[in-house]
Amino acid sequence: NPDSPDQVRTLVEVAEALAREAGALIRDGRRQLVTVAATKSSDQDVVTAMDLASESLLRSRLAELRPHDAILGEEEAFRPGTSGITWVVDPIDGTVNYLYGSSAYAVSVAAVIGPDPVAAPDPATWTALAGCVHAPEDGRTFTAGRGLGATLDGTALRVGPARPLIDSLVGTGFGYVASRRRVQGRIVAELLPQVRDIRRVGCASLDLCAIAAGTLDLYYERGLQPWDVAAGALVAQEAGALVTGLRGQAAQESMTVAGPPGRVEELRAFLEALDADSDG
Ligand code: IPD
Ligand code: CA
Ligand code: CA
Ligand code: CA
Repeated sequence: NPDSPDQVRTLVEVAEALAREAGALIRDGRRQLVTVAATKSSDQDVVTAMDLASESLLRSRLAELRPHDAILGEEEAFRPGTSGITWVVDPIDGTVNYLYGSSAYAVSVAAVIGPDPVAAPDPATWTALAGCVHAPEDGRTFTAGRGLGATLDGTALRVGPARPLIDSLVGTGFGYVASRRRVQGRIVAELLPQVRDIRRVGCASLDLCAIAAGTLDLYYERGLQPWDVAAGALVAQEAGALVTGLRGQAAQESMTVAGPPGRVEELRAFLEALDADSDG
């Protein structure tokens, strides 16, 4: 029974141990010269040698510890499994911050179950069981287990109180797909006069954890990938946040909105009115 409390606790322990080990690798590796190894969807979408090294460490540890589980990660091909559990890993979330010497980057590790254990699970249909977001530069570690709550460095997290949009600090991100950036800029232009302020920290997993910790009131982003959200969304939800898409849909690539219930609805309605989930 993969979602029994004992099993969930075991998965949280594995997620945390792996995120810490990969975190130490990338933090120490940064003291050496960090350079761009390649670009992906656009010239802005960079990958460093440490992104690759961190993912290969996560994969080899998972192969030892959890040989029957599948692995979905940003930098390598999906590895199928037979257990029904898939590990969803972002070896460095916030690569641009990492490259520039800013501390807002993290390793994100989550265990999810979905209806199809062989093909890569569809984020809109999966259930996250365990997650860890570890920021090695400042040593912060967020964990969550389904039904067991969320913690920051062992202290339980609870989302902040409901507050109107105009008094809210709103986080977002822009992704690296060039064709979407004009639309993302238009949304920010409309939103900025309606909120306390906007933050673009550059690390989606930490943005979602900031909702859990109350250091952001609200968060939205278009174009997020499974490895960006799997662990952070569970941390936010287990702290009491609502993580949703637009128009009654689940959070998905076209839009993820997160915040305390009673506060997230106003932002969601605002984004729906702007058609913020379409490229038009
Ligand atoms: C990116 C970061 C960023 C978000 C992008 C992601 P990466 O992940 O989370 O904050 O705005 O959408 O792609 O590429 O640094 O792992
Ligand atoms: Ca990337
Ligand atoms: Ca990422
Ligand atoms: Ca990444």
